[in-house]
Amino acid sequence: MEILGIDIGGSGMKGGLVNIETGELVTERFRIPTPASRKPEEMAKVFKEITNHFDYNGPVGCGFPTIVKHGVCKSVSNLNKSWLNLDIQKLFSDACGLPVTVINDADAAGYAVINYGIGKNEQGLVLMITVGTGIGSGAFFNGKLIPNSELGQIPYKKYKKIEHYTADSIRKKEDLSFTEWGKRLNTFLELVETIVCPDLIILGGGVSKHFDKYEKQIRIETPVKPAELGNHAGIIGAAAAVSK
Ligand code: BGC
Repeated sequence: MEILGIDIGGSGMKGGLVNIETGELVTERFRIPTPASRKPEEMAKVFKEITNHFDYNGPVGCGFPTIVKHGVCKSVSNLNKSWLNLDIQKLFSDACGLPVTVINDADAAGYAVINYGIGKNEQGLVLMITVGTGIGSGAFFNGKLIPNSELGQIPYKKYKKIEHYTADSIRKKEDLSFTEWGKRLNTFLELVETIVCPDLIILGGGVSKHFDKYEKQIRIETPVKPAELGNHAGIIGAAAAVSK
């Protein structure tokens, strides 16, 4: 069965059709930049453009970069404040005229690696850490999702949240080398290890494909592996979330 998965981030909104039996993306990924305002109405228009692009008629799965409870936005993170307490599921369903299931974007990416990727059959506490505009986390215990963990929100030194120190957007903004940035990532992972003591950490987002450039800076005891589904994990997991 093919389901449309849409992964919404602070810089891009990406969609693709996914075979949810195999976890494969069966179309090219289609990406539209996230509107600069990051406001609900404008983002809903882009959402509709993506469903139109695929000429799709069926349930849609969506990963969204905030806490999402029963389809409602419960934090604003890197989006416009007007998202808070808004029913994302209703907004997007009304915009495209299709049933939409919305979950947190890192939880969605985690679904993909746990069901089809490197996290398959892993026991214990497995964390999917997504590194992009912000830092997201998807926590899975014995393969089952513990939704809406927010490890990127840990305060660190002068930073209100450690994602303001370690996200990929910061690496780009401060023009950090992968070695410099890798040390920051290690600082974050050390905190994560101290707080939740995971059995495995899987790294997702665009930086996962450059893992060899900062692997040496990662010095924690917990095994850390890059998600081989890379940037597609969010789309694949979003689609898979529809049938969960
Ligand atoms: C948000 C998370 C999200 C992450 C990645 C953070 O700023 O708080 O909910 O998963 O960014 O997009």
